[in-house]
Amino acid sequence: SFYAVIMAGGGGTRLWPLSRSVRPKQMLKLGSERTLFQQAVDRLYGLVPPERILVVTGAEMAMDLQKDCPEIPGDNYLIEPAPKGTAAVVGLAAAYLYSKDRQAVMAILTADHVIRDVAYFQKILRVADEAARLGYLVTLGIHPTSPSTGYGYIQRGQPVAEINQQRVYQVLQFKEKPDADTARRMVESGDHDWNSGMFFWKVEQIRREIANQLPELYQVMIQIENAGFERQEEWLPLWMKLKPETIDYGIMERARQVVVIPAAGLGWNDVGSWDSLFEVLESDGNGNIRLSDQWLALDSQKTLVLCEDDQRLIATIGVENLIIVDSGNVLLVCHKDKAQSVRELVQILKQSG
Ligand code: GDD
Ligand code: MG
Repeated sequence: SFYAVIMAGGGGTRLWPLSRSVRPKQMLKLGSERTLFQQAVDRLYGLVPPERILVVTGAEMAMDLQKDCPEIPGDNYLIEPAPKGTAAVVGLAAAYLYSKDRQAVMAILTADHVIRDVAYFQKILRVADEAARLGYLVTLGIHPTSPSTGYGYIQRGQPVAEINQQRVYQVLQFKEKPDADTARRMVESGDHDWNSGMFFWKVEQIRREIANQLPELYQVMIQIENAGFERQEEWLPLWMKLKPETIDYGIMERARQVVVIPAAGLGWNDVGSWDSLFEVLESDGNGNIRLSDQWLALDSQKTLVLCEDDQRLIATIGVENLIIVDSGNVLLVCHKDKAQSVRELVQILKQSG
C-alpha cells in the first residue's frame, strides 16, 4: 500500500518572531483558515486515508499536532525521542512500516510548505507512486527562480519512463545546498531543478540504501523492527547515540537509481522566510500584505504587517519594502531584501542566551 509520512519536527527560524519553539512554522496559518500542517493533511484527502498517514515529530509538538488533525489515529503520531534530522525521520518511519507491510511505498512529505494546485499535486503523487514501484528513489523537481543556496539541486538526465503523460528523468547529480557560485552555474545550465524536499520510495529500497550509507541508523531500524516501535526502551540507547543527519546529505547525494519528476505547476513554496509570503499571499493594490486588521497605512507600499494583538494599532507613513511583525514581546522591523538574515539574528539571540 501507499503511505504518507509527514515530517513535522523542524523549527523554522527565519519566520521569527512568529515561529518560536513554542509555535513552530507548521502551526502557523499565514493568512489561511488552516495551519500549514492541516493543509499538508488536507492535500492528501481522497488519495491517502488517515489510517495510512504517519506523522513524525517530537514529544513537545505531538499534542498540538494531534489536536490539529484528530482524524489521524493517535498511534500514527510517531514520537522521536530526540531530533536527529530527516534521515532518522525516514529511518524511523521505514522501520515502523517494514514491520507492518513489507511491500509498502512511502511518500516523505513536509508539514510546512505551501502548494497551490492540490489537484496537480495529487496527480504527481500517483505518478511518483508508480515510479517508486519500479524501484526508483523519486524526487520532485521545482523550477528554480533564483540561485538560492538554501535548497538541494537536481541535475536532470535522460527520461527513463513516462507515466500518465508525465516524464520521469534519471538524476545525474544531487547536490545539497551548494555554495553561491555553484548554485549560479546550476541555475544557468538549464538542466537543474530545486529539490522539493518530498521523496517517494519502496520501504525495502530505502532500507537497503540506509544499510549501505548510514549503518548506525540501520542498526536502530533493525532494533525497532525486532523489538517493536512501542518498546522504545529497547532502541532508545542506540537512537540517542545517532549523529544528526539529513536525508539529502546522508542518502540522496550518493544514492543510485534516483529519478526526478519535474513538477513546475505545483505552486510550491517552502515559505522559508518572510519575503516568501509576498509570493504566496494575495497583496492589495499597493502591494501590501495585511496580516493585521488594525493597520493604518498612509502612502505605504510593498510592506507586510502582522500583529498578533488585535487591540494594537500599527501605523506606517511613507515606507516601502518593509516587514513589520509584532508578536509577544518582540517587534521586528526588517527590510524585505534582508529577510534571510532573520536566521542570523536568531543565532545571535541564542548565543546571548
Ligand atoms: N520530525 C522531524 N525531526 N522533522 C524534521 C527534523 C527532525 O529532526 N528536521 C527537519 N524536519 C522537518 C522540517 O520540519 C521540514 O518540514 C522538513 O523536515 C525539511 O527540513 P528542513 O530543515 O526545512 O530542510 P531544508 O529546508 O533545509 O532542506 C530540505 O528542503 C528543501 C526544500 O524546502 C532539503 O530537502 C532540500 O534539498 C530542499 O531543497
Ligand atoms: Mg525547509
